[in-house]
Amino acid sequence: MKIAMMARNPNLYSHRRLKEAAEERGHEFHIFNTLRCYMNIASRRPEIYYNDGEKLTGFDAVIPRIGASVTFYGLAVLRQFEMMGVYPLNESVAIGRSRDKLRSMQLMARDGIGLPVTTFAHDPKQTEAVLELAGGAPVVIKLLEGTQGIGVVLADTKRSATSVVEAFRGAKVNILLQEFIKEAGGTDIRAIVVGGKVIAAMKRTGAEGDFRSNLHRGGSAKLIKLSPEERLTATRAAKSMGLNVCGVDMLRANHGPVVMEVNSSPGLEGVEMATGLDVAGKIIEYIEKHAKPGATRTKGKG
Ligand SMILES: Nc1ncnc2c1ncn2[C@@H]1O[C@H](COP(=O)(O)OP(=O)(O)O)[C@@H](O)[C@H]1O
Ligand SMILES: [Mg+2]
Repeated sequence: MKIAMMARNPNLYSHRRLKEAAEERGHEFHIFNTLRCYMNIASRRPEIYYNDGEKLTGFDAVIPRIGASVTFYGLAVLRQFEMMGVYPLNESVAIGRSRDKLRSMQLMARDGIGLPVTTFAHDPKQTEAVLELAGGAPVVIKLLEGTQGIGVVLADTKRSATSVVEAFRGAKVNILLQEFIKEAGGTDIRAIVVGGKVIAAMKRTGAEGDFRSNLHRGGSAKLIKLSPEERLTATRAAKSMGLNVCGVDMLRANHGPVVMEVNSSPGLEGVEMATGLDVAGKIIEYIEKHAKPGATRTKGKG
């Protein structure tokens, strides 16, 4: 097969591993810097060009690894691939859903998936009311489109919560308020779901004194065995987003697993190191089973 990967940095561990895994299996693998792709949208035949005018043709599948900061343009390029009939590992629509924390929470709530109590308001006058709804302080305050733990704040008191909300609102960014799951103890679970199955899972623990367990924030990872309920929660969350491949982040709350977010381009380094599993290989295998020209369902609509 001829596989394209949209990624800005070809040297990242995850990107090197996906290339390696594909080439080991005899596939042709090309990495394109998302921001150097340009498109012809008006013509009847959708086209993508690269760099100095190389036309991208003949691809059977595309692996989108779109960084949070380039979501808008990245999804446009991915839609273009979809319109050309190239099989996307994750569809543009599904990635778009998962990138917005509020939208993804609403979709998972609709599907009855366990979530931390999450509240949201536009008007700063309602800050107090949404804070009460979230159970009062301590409360977690999050940017709607944050990533890697940046933009996630724990406010211990009502007063600090109010000032953090005011600061964020003053900076004109959208936020949500969330019940603080104290019993998680600075630890969360990441389950990697591929094709509706959990293929690897790890427990992440935050750096000393940090309630955020992101590896980018100095957290550490260990292999973990999930309970059947946790497995089911992870696969249901993936299904709710419509993602074929994703990392589902959960907290162990007293009343069972709750999902915090679903990541459409999960990093592979932490999870492969912690579990010793060939996650990249499983992803390529999934593509081998599913990529047929024209197999994308949405064709870039929506
Ligand atoms: N409601 C919460 N209760 C307890 N810990 C939380 C809560 N929300 C987030 N965290 C911690 O903060 C980390 C980052 O939050 P997350 O929503 O995943 O944001 P990001 O997209 O920046 O990774 C999580 O991995 C978890 O360890
Ligand atoms: Mg996270």
